Amino acid sequence: MNSKIKIVIVDDEPTNLMLLEALAQEYEPLTFANPLEVVEYLRHSAVDLLITDFNMPRMDGIELLKKAKEIQPGIMSIMITANGEESVRIQALDEGVDDFLTKPYSPSEVKLRIKNRHILRLEERSTQALKEREHEALRILSKTAEYKDPETASHVARVAHYSKLLGRLYGLDKEEQEILFYAAPLHDIGKVGIKDDILLKPGKLDDDEFELMKAHSRVGYEILADAENPYLRAGAVIAQSHHEKYNGRGYPLGLTGEDIPLYGRIVAIADVFDALTSIRPYKRAWSFEEAMELIKSEKGEHFDPVLVDLFVESETQIREIFIRFGAE
Ligand SMILES: [Fe+2]
Ligand SMILES: [Fe+2]
Repeated sequence: MNSKIKIVIVDDEPTNLMLLEALAQEYEPLTFANPLEVVEYLRHSAVDLLITDFNMPRMDGIELLKKAKEIQPGIMSIMITANGEESVRIQALDEGVDDFLTKPYSPSEVKLRIKNRHILRLEERSTQALKEREHEALRILSKTAEYKDPETASHVARVAHYSKLLGRLYGLDKEEQEILFYAAPLHDIGKVGIKDDILLKPGKLDDDEFELMKAHSRVGYEILADAENPYLRAGAVIAQSHHEKYNGRGYPLGLTGEDIPLYGRIVAIADVFDALTSIRPYKRAWSFEEAMELIKSEKGEHFDPVLVDLFVESETQIREIFIRFGAE
């Protein structure tokens, strides 16, 4: 991992610019006297920290900060203001500035403020790297779950997208939407515990076989249940509850209504809708419209009525996913 952060310093006063450059020299900063050139530079080069004077001709520090954030939302910033520019500081905070230097500043203050940004950025980077590794592990786990399952990888991808969309429409925050996205593909992980002659049977299952197949909810839950990781914990909940029905006629527990965990109610719609629109050894692929009708007709029966309404209302977005991750 690169441990140096990229710093850009902007000041129209050459002496100030040289001083700041000297104070930040260990980071080899880039210096600009003209903020318009900075905007151009940001369009093609990633920058970690923007240190900008407020008072500059052509474009002031606030304008520059606004533009910089538009181009690179993750950029950090320090604004240099003069004493008495209180309203500037308020405006800068409103635009998301991270820190200030007030003229006249001492060299050690400048160095410390830059160092603090440096530490924060490195922390951000390692959190990001950790997250990517976690997502990779989850993808591989999902892939393992799908490996023998006749339901395909694109089924799993669509279920993830439909579930995330439903979560968003329901008002879940970004973090929960992401959890749904990564956990929904684990809904059938328990199929690893189902015998091949049942799992891979080309025709419809008879009653006894279906009873055995039902065990995949419990097995999936057992595999994931003692996890600490929030994605895997959500996966456990989803594995256990994605075949419950709102009217209480589902399995394994026969829960009703909102006793069924929300994630399970969401994935139930996503999973059934996608299974209907996919070809299976024992059935043709239903059309988008036919599947929508079925979902509507199960409102309050198989599915949570509120979620059905949200699903139906956002037909356009559903169709986008349907087409984009379309049938193989
Ligand atoms: Fe299932
Ligand atoms: Fe499924």
